[in-house]
Order: sequence, then C-alpha cells, then structure tokens
Amino acid sequence: MILVTGGAGFIGGNFVLDWIAETGEPVLNLDALTYAGNLETLASLADDERHVFKRGDICDRELVDGLLQTYRPRAIVHFAAESHVDRSIHGPGEFIRTNVQGTFTLLEAARAYWNGLPPDARAGFRFLHVSTDEVYGSLEPQAPAFTERHPFEPNSPYSASKAASDHLVRAWYHTYGLPVLTTNCSNNYGPFHFPEKLIPLMIVNALAGRPLPVYGDGLNVRDWLYVKDHCSAIRRVLAQGRLGETYNVGGWNEKRNIDIVHTVCALLDEMRPDPAGSYARLITFVQDRPGHDRRYAIDASKIENELGWRPAETFETGIRKTIAWYLENPGWVEHVQSGAYRNWIDTNYASRQNGGTA
Ligand code: NAD
Ligand code: DAU
Repeated sequence: MILVTGGAGFIGGNFVLDWIAETGEPVLNLDALTYAGNLETLASLADDERHVFKRGDICDRELVDGLLQTYRPRAIVHFAAESHVDRSIHGPGEFIRTNVQGTFTLLEAARAYWNGLPPDARAGFRFLHVSTDEVYGSLEPQAPAFTERHPFEPNSPYSASKAASDHLVRAWYHTYGLPVLTTNCSNNYGPFHFPEKLIPLMIVNALAGRPLPVYGDGLNVRDWLYVKDHCSAIRRVLAQGRLGETYNVGGWNEKRNIDIVHTVCALLDEMRPDPAGSYARLITFVQDRPGHDRRYAIDASKIENELGWRPAETFETGIRKTIAWYLENPGWVEHVQSGAYRNWIDTNYASRQNGGTA
C-alpha cells in the first residue's frame, strides 16, 4: 500500500479516490481533519477495505513511526498542509508547524523506516512531496513561465513555509539519499474544493445571492489545472520520476481573476439561471490581499518531455464539470460551511472595504 497524508483535503481526497479507482492499490490515509479535511469527500470508500483512514497529526513522530511499522507502505505521498494564503496572513504559526515541522517529522520518520527496509523494498521506496508554484514568487506580465530552475522567491507566509519544506525534502535526498520526488503545481480547481478559495467561493456565493469579492483590480493571473489532471501527474511522477528531481505541473491555462469570475457567472447563468438577473451583478471589488502575487505561470515542458504527461482537460471542459459538480452536490457544500467556516468568512471579508461594483 501507499501512505497518503492530507487525504481528506481537496487534492488529497481527489487523489485517494482516483488512486483506488485507477490502480486498486490500498491507501493508508493520515489526516488531522482540520477545518479543511472532510471525510464526506471519501464517503464512496466507506465500505472499501482498500482505504484505511487514521486521524492524526503529521507532527506526531510516534504516531507516524507506528503507522509505518504496522502498514509498511511502499511510498509516501505527502499532501498534508495548511494551504490557504489568506489564512497564512491572519495566522502564520500553524503554517510553520504543519508545513515545515510536519514535513521535517515525516522525512525523519521516512528515513528511519527506509533505512530498516530489506534491499529490494529499500530500492523501490519513494517519498513524493506535493508542493506549489507559489514558491517561485511573482512574474512580470511578459516574463517566461516558471521552469524548475527558477529561483525561490516566496512572498506569503504560506509560500515561504512551502518553500522551506521543499528545501528540506531536497536536503534529505542529497544528505541522506532518501528517494524523494517533488511536484510544484499551479492552482487547482474541481470537485470537493473548499469554498474559501476563489472558484468554489464564487460558485457558492453566487448561488446564495451574496457578493462575489474580487481582490484589488482583479487582474492578477493564475494558471489553472483541473484537480484530476494534478492527480494523474502525481501518479506519473511517482511511477517514473527521476529521484531527487522536481517537476512543475500546470495546465497551460493562464487566466485573470476577473475573467475566471465572469466565466463562472456565465456558466451559472446558463446552468442555473437566476430570475433576478445575471450573477455578474454580484461582482464586488474589495481591498487587495497584502503582498498579492501578480502572476503565476507554469512551464510544464519537463514533465511532458521526460514523462509524457499532459493534462486531459482544457479550462473550458474542467470548469463546466466543476460547476456541474457543485450544482449536483449541495449537501457536501452545506456540511463544510460549519460555524468555523462562517467565522473565517467574517474574519477575512469584514475588514475589506468595498472598492466598487462591476
Ligand atoms: P487542503 O487545505 O484542502 O487540505 C489539506 C489537508 O491536510 C486537510 O485534509 C487537512 O485536514 C490536512 N492537514 C492539515 N494539517 C495537518 C496535520 N498537521 N497533520 C495531518 N493532516 C493535516 O489542501 P489542498 O488544496 O488539497 O492542498 C494539498 C497539497 O497540495 C498542499 O501541500 C498544497 O500546498 C499543495 N498544492 C495545492 C494547490 C491548490 O491549488 N490547492 C496547488 C499546488 C499545490
Ligand atoms: O498556485 C498554487 C496555489 O493556489 C496553492 O499552492 C494554494 O494552496 C492555493 O490556495 C492557491 O493559492 P491562491 O492564493 O492563488 O488561490 P486563491 O483561490 O486563494 O486565490 C486565487 C486568486 O483569486 C488570487 O489572486 C486571489 C484572488 N481572490 C481570492 C479569493 C479567496 C479573490 O480575488 N477573491 C477571493 O475572495
């Protein structure tokens, strides 16, 4: 089996579902079930013995050691993290704890376990670290997209904590020979995405008739990838990636935030028309995010040339599937909008002054 950390979150949850469907190989899923973790995402695996769920913290070395000894995974795929930039601005401490200390704890536990494996198992073992394009910082409008050789220039507590974790993973390869792989991916979207991030927040707010808060001038650019394409890229890197290498993963889909929001509104107008008029009437420009990176763009040539991976979805097909999923799964959305979620919405948006309505 493989050990997945953070497998009750957005990408980890999609990965576990796809992994079992595609490979049939069992998964040990270690997740602390923070506000971002949701076992409802994995409801379809409730009676499937190929999915073993353990609630626990990746910073708990004793727990991780015990799980490795008991379940003896052939690989670790590490998703667990604090992942939301705005939350990292309001409270960076948890980001340092989980993303840096947690990755360190996992690396040390993996190293001890790997050192004790028989030669064949030792040779086949992999530690795959799931990271982000945000470690590279922000691009000027005409600058070429990030390659794996771009310097690290993180600008938020979140991206700094991920950059630190990437450095640890690299060092454990060069110093101890731990067989690691790292993926640096662009913005994901798709089913089971927590509605604090841009796309699901816009869908959920629009359907509730609430304002659609666009930060600053709305011209920041992100490079969007359908989550299931990220999952297939991780499977490919795990199977064929060269040890110690990093692979950028992206969808060749650069979009301005305001265009994303208009696309979401137009699709909702088509798929769930509102008698009150187009959802675009709800677009509201609000105070910007501090240190807001202007542009991300991923050059995904290396993974394509070396491993033959390309995304299956275009943005147009992926966003339509995503909106259909949210329309078909109001129960999942309702349940993740707990009291804690509502407190976060107050914390993040109450202090932002409106900058006008589009
Ligand atoms: P998420 O916030 O949706 O999920 C994170 C999961 O980790 C949750 O299930 C949470 O309960 C769990 N977790 C948090 N702290 C933990 C701890 N101390 N111990 C055990 N479990 C813990 O995040 P996501 O968007 O699915 O991102 C997953 C990974 O992918 C992260 O490492 C993130 O940096 C990376 N990534 C995300 C994106 C994106 O667009 N969302 C893009 C590139 C890379
Ligand atoms: O690039 C990969 C990263 O993408 C991941 O590493 C992060 O875990 C993930 O959260 C995401 O980070 P972003 O900050 O790019 O995603 P977010 O959805 O928070 O914001 C996307 C863009 O939309 C960003 O420019 C800020 C803007 N935004 C966001 C929110 C929540 C708004 O304009 N309004 C909003 O309400």
